[in-house]
Amino acid sequence: MKTDFPDLTIETQEEIVVITIDRPKALNAINLNVMKGLNEIFGENGLPPNVRGVIITGSGDKAFAAGADIKEFSFDNEATAELSAFGHDTFKQIEHCKVPVIAAVNGFALGGGCELAMACHIRIADKKASFGQPEINLGIIPGYGGTQRLPQLVGKGRALEILLTGSMIDADEAYRIGLVNQMSDPGESLPQALKMMKVVVSKAPIAARNIIESVNAHYAMPERSYAIEIEKFGESFLTEDAREGISAFLEKRKPEFKGK
Ligand code: CAA
Repeated sequence: MKTDFPDLTIETQEEIVVITIDRPKALNAINLNVMKGLNEIFGENGLPPNVRGVIITGSGDKAFAAGADIKEFSFDNEATAELSAFGHDTFKQIEHCKVPVIAAVNGFALGGGCELAMACHIRIADKKASFGQPEINLGIIPGYGGTQRLPQLVGKGRALEILLTGSMIDADEAYRIGLVNQMSDPGESLPQALKMMKVVVSKAPIAARNIIESVNAHYAMPERSYAIEIEKFGESFLTEDAREGISAFLEKRKPEFKGK
């Protein structure tokens, strides 16, 4: 896959791609380069078919991403609406990615950084990480889906508290309210995410894709989401992996999934 993106480092570990936002001096603030790179990677044909999982993290030990790059903001209403729409498009691609995406949150996840983590399917946070939507402190509101995904994860009341106070919460609190799935020891969010991803990629890939689609359907098209699960359940029985998984169970052996 293409690995040469400004302000991003891409490493491939077997079938797992690790994307690192590489702007530690700016606390990995999400500038246009980062957003364009993510848009290309998660866009059509960005991830090769052999990729089974993606991890997103930040470089250095201080930040996952401290938000959209404030230095790139302009007071042009059209330009900011465009910036927001591009961010929405990119983060939607991550949310709807055909393979599981885990955020290894190694430090500050603020504003657009928190929104990026929330667009991923699973979040693992370093114990010293902190989260927040501080946009209100700048006199603006989240522009990359924060007002929508935060209530989905933590409920409306807690989301409004985080959004309206603009205060940061620590990893313990983020874990307590369900914003993150697991906490890691300091410096261990990426290894812990890789460990979890290795479990995930050992499972049936088409089933993983259908699970993501069915769960997303609840939010994207709630009137059809139960019907979508029924369709996907039926479809999963047409895969070679279903034959393999069910035979392996009956034969008391470990399944070997091929993603077919
Ligand atoms: N954009 C651009 N640069 C940023 C940045 C951001 N979001 N966050 C930090 N930086 C830069 C700082 O300007 C500073 O650069 P210089 O050395 O050139 O001055 C460098 O990163 C280090 O930052 P600090 O000196 O501020 O580090 P600190 O440890 O004292 O504070 C912090 C850390 C509390 C995270 C603080 O940097 C901060 O409050 N950052 C801004 C957080 C924020 O408001 N995020 C939301 C952005 S808006 C948004 O994201 C909208 C959206 O939804 C699309």
